[in-house]
Amino acid sequence: MTSKDIREKYISFFVGKRHKEIAPTKLVPENDSSTLFISSGMQPLIPYLLGEEHPAGKRLVNCQLCFRAEDIEEVGDNRHTTFFEMLGNWSLGDYFKEDQLEWCWEFLTKKLKLPKEKLYVSVFKGSSSVPKDIKSYEIWKSLGIPEDHVYFYGSDKNWWSRSGTPDKMPVGEIGGPDSEIFYEFTQVDHDSEYGEKCHPNCPCGRFLEIGNSVFIQFQKKDNGSLKELSQKNVDFGGGLERLTAAVNNTSDIFETELYKPIVEEICEKLGTSYEKNKQYIQIIADHIKASVFLIKEGVMPSNKLQGYILRRLLRRVVTKAFLIDKQKSDSKFFRSLIKSVTDIYPKHFEGNAVGTEEVVSLEIRKFRKTLERGLKQLDKSIKDNEDLGLAVFNLFQSYGYPLELTIELLKERGIKFTDLDMVQFEKGKKSHVELSRTASSGMFKGGLADHSEIVTKYHTATHLLHQSLRDVLGSSVFQKGSNITLERLRFDFSFERKMTDEEIKQVEDLVNEKIKEDLTVTKEVMDKEKALQSGALGFFTEKYGDKVTVYSIADPSTSSGSSFSREICGGPHVERTGVIGKIKITKEESVSSGIRRIRAKIVLR
Ligand code: SER
Repeated sequence: MTSKDIREKYISFFVGKRHKEIAPTKLVPENDSSTLFISSGMQPLIPYLLGEEHPAGKRLVNCQLCFRAEDIEEVGDNRHTTFFEMLGNWSLGDYFKEDQLEWCWEFLTKKLKLPKEKLYVSVFKGSSSVPKDIKSYEIWKSLGIPEDHVYFYGSDKNWWSRSGTPDKMPVGEIGGPDSEIFYEFTQVDHDSEYGEKCHPNCPCGRFLEIGNSVFIQFQKKDNGSLKELSQKNVDFGGGLERLTAAVNNTSDIFETELYKPIVEEICEKLGTSYEKNKQYIQIIADHIKASVFLIKEGVMPSNKLQGYILRRLLRRVVTKAFLIDKQKSDSKFFRSLIKSVTDIYPKHFEGNAVGTEEVVSLEIRKFRKTLERGLKQLDKSIKDNEDLGLAVFNLFQSYGYPLELTIELLKERGIKFTDLDMVQFEKGKKSHVELSRTASSGMFKGGLADHSEIVTKYHTATHLLHQSLRDVLGSSVFQKGSNITLERLRFDFSFERKMTDEEIKQVEDLVNEKIKEDLTVTKEVMDKEKALQSGALGFFTEKYGDKVTVYSIADPSTSSGSSFSREICGGPHVERTGVIGKIKITKEESVSSGIRRIRAKIVLR
């Protein structure tokens, strides 16, 4: 039985039960800014599940394309995908548990002819606020399902809302207990790594969830409680890819007709086998399919919202293909990959693939360039004997270089990435995540990137750098310009010649020493003349008004006037230097005659 047969049988079965077939909506929601993609068939129906009257009536059925961005990292096993088709039927306050479970059973066992002995069901075991679902249990029993094929689970497994368990539901969100159906692939042995005994929700691959009846009857209130909705709804969802796998008793959805042609194309063009590179191939197959559908809906790779997700998918596709065979993953390969997707869905892609190819190749070319630039940087870091973990982290941070790709490239250069390097890399990643978090919260607070915490740290570090340069190179050094981004500081200053490595090290050490001393940063407003007389550095005097702000960086225990740095400046600055972390001078170069430029980064503590 093909996926097309299953889709048609499902729709006609429910139409036979007096359901109206409704048109699916686009993958990118049109009038819903709360979400980037349609991730379940119920999503466009929320107003009707809440009680609004649907023009097509109270019983609906359809097949909806879905995309789940939150599952990107899950892909890489026998059953997870970001893109899938969901078969759905709904009762908007009409029939409830009895009809739903009975029809579900009838469809699976009579229409799809799934062997009863391979089907298992799960039921909500109850929580402090919602009782055990005895009713569903009794219905399943009355349908002849043996006791040992019925499992009870709590809210983590048998509760469904768009945001997960009841505690995670935001105010206004709807959801309810659900009852799921699983298919058992008896040919797959249980993997004891996942526990002694296998059960329907065990992730070992023996069981596959093929359908889910959600009894949407609750809404989250602002006091945190769940209120019964005015109507009791049914929301059934069945993944078409998974049903196709079950019907054909194929335990891996990537071996069904909905993925096989893509998988074969990858293997043929990259000269590999599915067995050898299973995980990478699953990721490429899912992501390229999702990308092709997103592009068809008008999403373009970018750094924002849907475009960002598409960019991430495509970059993952390129990375995994590179890891299999860098040479063979050329533009011809990606073109043939797109064709293998569109061939599976002739109805969706009549004449549409041409534009898709262009978007994909442009994005891939861009990413290749980034990868090449990163590669040069990596070679330089290796030549300069830099800390490997840190160098790899910097590639990841500045070029979006995936760790596994860098490790491969190191390998090619005869260099081993050790556990110790991994620790450094992870440390860097952790602090980067924290830094970007503070940076973006700063952005939302003030609307300005340059008032974020990280930029403020860089700003104070610039003052320390300025004074350190003067201490090491002499007082002929003064600021000529400065530019700070979320990623680095850049500082231009007057100096006649290239700095020696020794001088660079001395400056870097001095800045880091002053950070370590955790000096206090204080601010005073005073007359310009007085400020300059007091020794405050200020080289753009013509720009200042009569009153200026002076920032001093000093050890609070020493007397005033003995500050390490004192500058006329508009701020903002950190309160104490200790929070800056550690800086590293990454470059010293000439800008023009008599002017040098330094770039520095905040690295690990
Ligand atoms: N909304 C439920 C799910 O996604 C059933 O359609 O599983």
